[in-house]
Amino acid sequence: MPEIGQGVLIAQNPTLLARPLSLEDYKVVLQGIVLTCTPPSYLDWYKLLFDERPKTTKRDLYDMERQLASFVSAIREGDPMVLIVGLRRTGKTSLLQTGLAEAKLPGIIVDLRAIGEKPYATKKDLLQLLESSVNNFLSEQKGRAGRVIDRLKGIRGVQVMGTGVSFSWAGKEPLQIVDVFKLLEEMAAREKHRFIIAFDEAQELGKIAGFNVQKILAHVYDYFKNTSIVLTGSAIGLLRDFVGTDDPDAPLYGRAITEIVLGRLSEGQSRDFLQKGFEQLGTRPNEKVLREALIRLDGIIGWLTLFGSICKRGGVSASSIGKVREIGKSMARKEFLNFLASRQIAKRRYMRIMKTVVSHPATWSEIKRSVQELEGRTVNDRGITDLISTLVKAGFIEKTGELYQIGDPLLAEAIR
Ligand SMILES: Nc1ncnc2c1ncn2[C@@H]1O[C@H](COP(=O)(O)OP(=O)(O)O)[C@@H](O)[C@H]1O
Ligand SMILES: [Mg+2]
Repeated sequence: MPEIGQGVLIAQNPTLLARPLSLEDYKVVLQGIVLTCTPPSYLDWYKLLFDERPKTTKRDLYDMERQLASFVSAIREGDPMVLIVGLRRTGKTSLLQTGLAEAKLPGIIVDLRAIGEKPYATKKDLLQLLESSVNNFLSEQKGRAGRVIDRLKGIRGVQVMGTGVSFSWAGKEPLQIVDVFKLLEEMAAREKHRFIIAFDEAQELGKIAGFNVQKILAHVYDYFKNTSIVLTGSAIGLLRDFVGTDDPDAPLYGRAITEIVLGRLSEGQSRDFLQKGFEQLGTRPNEKVLREALIRLDGIIGWLTLFGSICKRGGVSASSIGKVREIGKSMARKEFLNFLASRQIAKRRYMRIMKTVVSHPATWSEIKRSVQELEGRTVNDRGITDLISTLVKAGFIEKTGELYQIGDPLLAEAIR
């Protein structure tokens, strides 16, 4: 018999319900006593819209059918390189993970966010992240893992540790990254399927001192016909610069690249997203709170998800908007400080530009005047243009017509 507080729901079979289950479905009233039941583990295959983790299944991915279809067909049909770009928290990782699952293709995802938090990075950092993504891949292989490990064992710089591998970055036998990619390519060729190598937040690869990742990517692009490279990036311009298809001196110059762009939700979509998410929770937010959230969070799906998640824990109220603003501000501030950390010399100037455009959308000349005031001297035009352009490329400010402003409403609040 279930005890109060940990009952088992046997009356409903979720696969037979036309709508997703809400938390209300787990409350059973028995002789006036409410038993709250733990959702059964067989429901793990889908998440709530307000789950803060990146989404991994099509069913949980709100309104990205078009981008998902483009991504899946690009990797299935063998496009050698695909970029997924969009501001922070617009769903790039969600699209990447869902796309790989939908396409049913094996792959590794190297998550470079950890490098984003460092002022600079080394080859060792990259190898450690690659190592953990290869180990994740192995852990998903089950029956096949042994065979893959046997092959990996033959590569210089690879040690087998239990059911995983460890890569050496120094000493007599450092690992050559391209050897790992070659092994994965050969495996894909033998098994007649495609293999995906994805770098999440790939603009961070540009930070790795003294190591030319582009050259490796160009080699994979040109010679590994069964492998597709996927790069995601929040700093869209910095990622495009890193890839360097327009730069005659860059290894990837002139290569064709498929680009998928993620944007903000419109106000109508944001409202619909919130309503659907709250429906799953079995609640309906009041119109005033909903409207305030729509204004404050400005169509960024990650902030809307965070808002929903906070409401899930603490109830729907104006104070939930306050909380999402506080948490969001500190996340956005940290990301901007990370950007400044590797740009010590121009730090004060970048900050000044952000402060200038936060009060009202500003023109290039207004920004120049403000930076000159800060320094008490003339600053050349080229210098100003470079600073503004880097902030735009990093995705912190946007240009509309002749005016520059901060794109993310919570970053704007953090700078104010
Ligand atoms: N299409 C979507 N449907 C539902 N939730 C989403 C969607 N896109 C993103 N999210 C949610 O928004 C947040 C940010 O998504 P993520 O994929 O990490 O974005 P990014 O990689 O662009 O920063 C996560 O909480 C995620 O669950
Ligand atoms: Mg991401």
